[in-house]
Amino acid sequence: MNSNILTEALRHHEAGRLEKAEALYRKILAQEPNQPDALHLLGVLAHQRGDCEGAVTLIRQAIAGNPSAPTFHMHLGQALMALGQMEEAVRHYKTALKLEPSLTPARYQLANTLLALGRLKEAGPHYEALLALEPTNVEFLAKLGAIKSDCGHMKEACTYFEAALRQLPDNALIQTGLFHALARIQPEAYEAHHVALMEKGLAFPDIAHQIFARPAAGLLKQKYRTDWKATEVDLKCKDGLLSDGLLRALLKKTVNADGELELFLTRLRRQFFLAEGVVKAHFPFLSALAEQGFNNEYVFWVSEEEEAKWASLKADIESNLVSAGPLDEAFFRKLLLFALYAPLHTLAIAEKLKDVSLVTWPDYLQPIVQRTLLDWFEEQEIKDEIPSLTKIEDATSRAVQSQYEENPYPRWLSIDREPPSTLAGTMAQLHPQATLPSFLKEPPLEVLIAGSGTGKHVILRALSYGDAKITAVDLSKSSMAYARRMAKALNIKNIEFHQGDILDLDCLGRQFPVIECAGVLHHMKEPEKGWSVLTRLLRPGGFMLIGLYGEAARKDIVQARKRIQELDLQPTAKDIRNFRREMLLGKYEDFSDLMVFHDFFALSGCRDLIFHVQEHRYTIPEIQKMIDGQSLDFLGFQFYEGALSIKNLYRKEYPADPSMTDFSSWERFEKAHPEIFIEMLGYLFWCRKPVAN
Ligand SMILES: C[S@@+](CC[C@H](N)C(=O)[O-])C[C@H]1O[C@@H](n2cnc3c(N)ncnc32)[C@H](O)[C@@H]1O
Repeated sequence: MNSNILTEALRHHEAGRLEKAEALYRKILAQEPNQPDALHLLGVLAHQRGDCEGAVTLIRQAIAGNPSAPTFHMHLGQALMALGQMEEAVRHYKTALKLEPSLTPARYQLANTLLALGRLKEAGPHYEALLALEPTNVEFLAKLGAIKSDCGHMKEACTYFEAALRQLPDNALIQTGLFHALARIQPEAYEAHHVALMEKGLAFPDIAHQIFARPAAGLLKQKYRTDWKATEVDLKCKDGLLSDGLLRALLKKTVNADGELELFLTRLRRQFFLAEGVVKAHFPFLSALAEQGFNNEYVFWVSEEEEAKWASLKADIESNLVSAGPLDEAFFRKLLLFALYAPLHTLAIAEKLKDVSLVTWPDYLQPIVQRTLLDWFEEQEIKDEIPSLTKIEDATSRAVQSQYEENPYPRWLSIDREPPSTLAGTMAQLHPQATLPSFLKEPPLEVLIAGSGTGKHVILRALSYGDAKITAVDLSKSSMAYARRMAKALNIKNIEFHQGDILDLDCLGRQFPVIECAGVLHHMKEPEKGWSVLTRLLRPGGFMLIGLYGEAARKDIVQARKRIQELDLQPTAKDIRNFRREMLLGKYEDFSDLMVFHDFFALSGCRDLIFHVQEHRYTIPEIQKMIDGQSLDFLGFQFYEGALSIKNLYRKEYPADPSMTDFSSWERFEKAHPEIFIEMLGYLFWCRKPVAN
């Protein structure tokens, strides 16, 4: 009798007639209060109506009556998930699968829940089982790619991402996943497929091409087993290498970050420059090498012989145009050779060159003209348009300003362009445990980025805070001009750039829901003073991101700085080049590890890294003291590469700190895993201003 009612109830339920179904389930339960099927289905119905707690109670009662029904456990898992009880949900999904291994929806839920919990190693086999049933399912392929990548299995990750791309060739997220995994493969041997993918990555516009610099150099070194350290390069024998597409792309799109390759390219440049009769066939390579020079701000070492010849070439070029000489092949060739050592805008005749239409230049000069001449002029115009908020009077601020006017930092050429998100959405993702204030959704949504530099961080934030207006402030107009030009090129419109000193930003006269200041305060004379200004500008309940140098993380850098001081080296291009050359030739072994930083390979980066006019470094207890001094609440550290694995490791080692905010545990964690913080050069962390403040 009840079974007939149940069948009828189920029919109504499946057809969406929930009230009729409920009445029949209740009818059964009136006669038989512990009837497991009716309890279970009534629980499912409660969940459908949003009553998850009711669902959990009912399905638990059903399980008490019949513990071996797999779907009861699966549906209980779903209701628990909706209540955020993920660990318990996992237990019930697992029970469901034990009872019925072919219950695919339970496996799918389990895989997703494990993934959300960051338990990647456990989630992987479940997605593999799901994929075996549907071998072309893009979701499973992409998730497996991401899991393998996070677990450090880059080759497998690439295989999954490539399979996903065969289904969805234009998906930007999958492409980004593939290229990031590809860039982290340590090439053991030259593989044509690997190279082809890397060239594709270097041509993909929405990725930070810098990730390919080292692996591409590795592949080239595998392919051309030349003596990279030889003092003379046989220019004829190098034709294969010089026309190599991967090398050209590396030179044009990245800042080379391989010491051996740099030494080789430096010698090659010298030979080409000093040799008479450079042939036309080499022009495309020389053009790429000139772009590399621009990318690394001409950081390669220059011999006196080259300097002298370059100076007379410069004079020759300048007199040529002064006397209204023709723009002929011989002149183009001279410009190409000049551009191996300096940007074209430094020529006295730059104004005249700028007025020559780009298309009239030969192909091999066009990118050089665009990047080292026209872009520079555009930046000069932008500089004049950037408004000044404050005067810059503090002596340290002026010294720091002068450094970044001469050498805007960081040198970046492209970014990982992620799909736009909202301020509230990004904050919810970054701070899953925090209750978000309603003002994150109420216009005007504003974000202050203090010390915005050349804009890489700001532009990424402009995407993730797509509905907010960003106010970017920096001492250096050259840096902001670069940032603004790049923002325009990337069609990003929600940033306003202002020149100003953080010390005087109270003049903004309003409070911001989110403030970010990374890599900046430690360059002030009294960082706490600058931080206090920012704390005043933060709305109660608002979020603040701070990045500070770490004492332990910069151990090698401290040694290098000491040596630079002892040698009385100045932060000039010449001293920086000479010191770097000695490092590349193996002179300073005690701090040679600092060559792992890509910053070492560009002039502004190297100056920022080891020649800075002003820097402070901190330990974790000192950071705790400063956060307390600002009366802020600490929300946790942020990591980029491998963030999930780092957090999982911390959770495993410090289970008693589930919120991951205990400073003494972090101090011990850093001692055990110093490399994690070395990669970041210190600490990046989020704080929050208490509402009562
Ligand atoms: C190392 S760069 C970091 C840039 C950027 N935050 C990033 O992470 O890419 C430091 C920047 O902070 C700026 N800066 C340093 N002191 C400042 C101050 N007192 N007020 C405003 N900007 C400052 C410098 O001009 C420079 O552009």
